[in-house]
Parts: sequence; structure tokens; C-alpha cells
Amino acid sequence: MSGVSIGWGKVILLGEHAVVYGYPALAAALDRGVTMQAVPTPAGGPLRLDVPVWDLAVTAGALDDHHPIGRALGAIADHLGLGRPALSLVGESQIPVGAGLGSSAAMAVAVTRALLVWAKRKEDPAVIAEAAGASEGIVHGRASGVDVALALAGGIGVFRKASGLRKLALSTPLRILVAATTEPRNTADMIQRVTDATNGKKEDPRLAELGSLTDTGTTALLGGDLAGLGAAMNRAHAVLAGLGVSTPKLDILCDAARTAGAHGAKLTGAGGGGAIIAIAPREAEGAILAAWKERGVVGFQTTIR
Ligand code: PMV
Repeated sequence: MSGVSIGWGKVILLGEHAVVYGYPALAAALDRGVTMQAVPTPAGGPLRLDVPVWDLAVTAGALDDHHPIGRALGAIADHLGLGRPALSLVGESQIPVGAGLGSSAAMAVAVTRALLVWAKRKEDPAVIAEAAGASEGIVHGRASGVDVALALAGGIGVFRKASGLRKLALSTPLRILVAATTEPRNTADMIQRVTDATNGKKEDPRLAELGSLTDTGTTALLGGDLAGLGAAMNRAHAVLAGLGVSTPKLDILCDAARTAGAHGAKLTGAGGGGAIIAIAPREAEGAILAAWKERGVVGFQTTIR
């Protein structure tokens, strides 16, 4: 059995959706994600992927396979030129699936890394990004690449489609509260909703505002101004809601966090359900987690370094 490979989960602090149109996004890897081990099946058999905690069990398929994850697994193996080795990729996840926390990119990066370890090949970030990006293209359609960049690199940074991830060095670790709802959602549908709302035009003022909020929030974060970062997040949530990608539940959870003392709260990722995040003074964190719990959602705290 080979070693364990990881892909990190992520949160987008600012800039989701606008990033698809070329604007910057501020994003951070969680301290958790998806881990994967390649287990050879000596008696032969197909290339498989099993993530029991997600009830996921697929066989690597061709591009016309009915299961998108099976197609994605096949695409990764093809990108690496491995064919279909007799292996079971066995995964564990510490993040929920489909909640906007980058589970599919984390899985794709972990699968790619595990295959490279099994093939005794050196880890090349460009190769991993391309293989995992092919998987994301199948699962999500028009993806910017921000999820893959964070799943691979960890840490925090500003991502642009044209130039990739520019990592930031924080002088003080950033504490973020995260809550994943179980509202069903689909990234590709939400990206389509924004395309419909903006006619797919980069110049739409709402997309431009989301992009400039990334700049404002990043400057505030680097200057240690968490209230400024929180204000940018609150405004971004309102703009995203205006584009039609929030839900009443996400609005209620964000309001509850602000009432309980958060500097800022917003949906994170594609929206339409999924997760929210909040930045808060340390002494308000307990009240915010309690307010979410009262509303049926269990949150957690993650530290970004
Ligand atoms: O799949 P999610 O929920 O992590 O959304 C990713 C963020 C988007 O900007 C909506 C899409 C993208 O690929 O950047």
C-alpha cells in the first residue's frame, strides 16, 4: 500500500462567480480535506474510486460514461498517461460533498497525487493542476480553477484565472467560522444563473464590484483590519444575493452571525445552498456557533496560516 495523499478543502472569502469572468478572488485552504490511498488489486480488475463517507463507489470510465465521477477519474488517469491500472483508490473526507467547500477539487487533487505516488513519479504541480482541472471541467463545467489551486497549494492567496494563485503571507493567523447547510445545490446551475443575470458580460457592474471588493478586503486583511474585511464580505453577500445565488436560509444564517457579533458573513462558493463563512472577534465566536446551531446548522472554526 502506498502513502496517503491529500487535497485541501477551501473557502472563498471574496470574489466567487466574478472569478469566472477574470476578476480576482481571495481564497483560503481549510485545515481539512480529502485523503486518498492507492491500494493495488493483485488479481486485476478495473481502476476504482471508493469514498465510503460520501457513498461514492465508481469505476474509471470513458468520456461517455454515465457517471460524471467515473468520467472524471478516467480523465485524470488519461492525463497522467496511466491507462487503467488495477487499483482501488480509497478516500476519506473531512468536508461535506457539494457544499461549496471544494470537495470535488480536493478529491481530484488527492486522486492525482495518489496515482503519482503509486506510479513512483515526482509531484509536479503543473501536471497535478492540469489533471485535476480536467476532472473539475467534467464535474463543474465552466470552473475558474480556484478550487484546484487551493486544494493543491494550501494556504491563502489571491487567484486569477489568467495568472493563477498568488500566495499571501499572513502576519497573524486568520480564524474563520464555517457552516455547511444541507440545502442541495449545483455549481454549474449557479454559474449559469449568474450568466443569465449578467448576459455573460464581464463589464456587468455587479461582477466588477465583486472584483473590487476582493481588492478592498485583501488590503484590509493584510493590514490586520478584520472589520474592514468583514464589511467587504457583508457587501459581497448582498451583491451575490442580488445576482440570485443566495437563499433565505443562507441570508438568515448570515444575519444571525452579524447579530451575534461577526465583523462580516457571507455565502462561500457557488451559493444556492451550501456553506457560509463568518469573520468575528474571538469572543463572539461561541455566540455565532450557538446561533447557527439554534437554526439547525453545526459550524466549525478553521485557522488559516
Ligand atoms: O464549487 P464551488 O461552490 O466551490 O464554487 C466555486 C466558485 C465559483 O466561482 C462559483 C466557480 C469557480 O469555478 O470559480
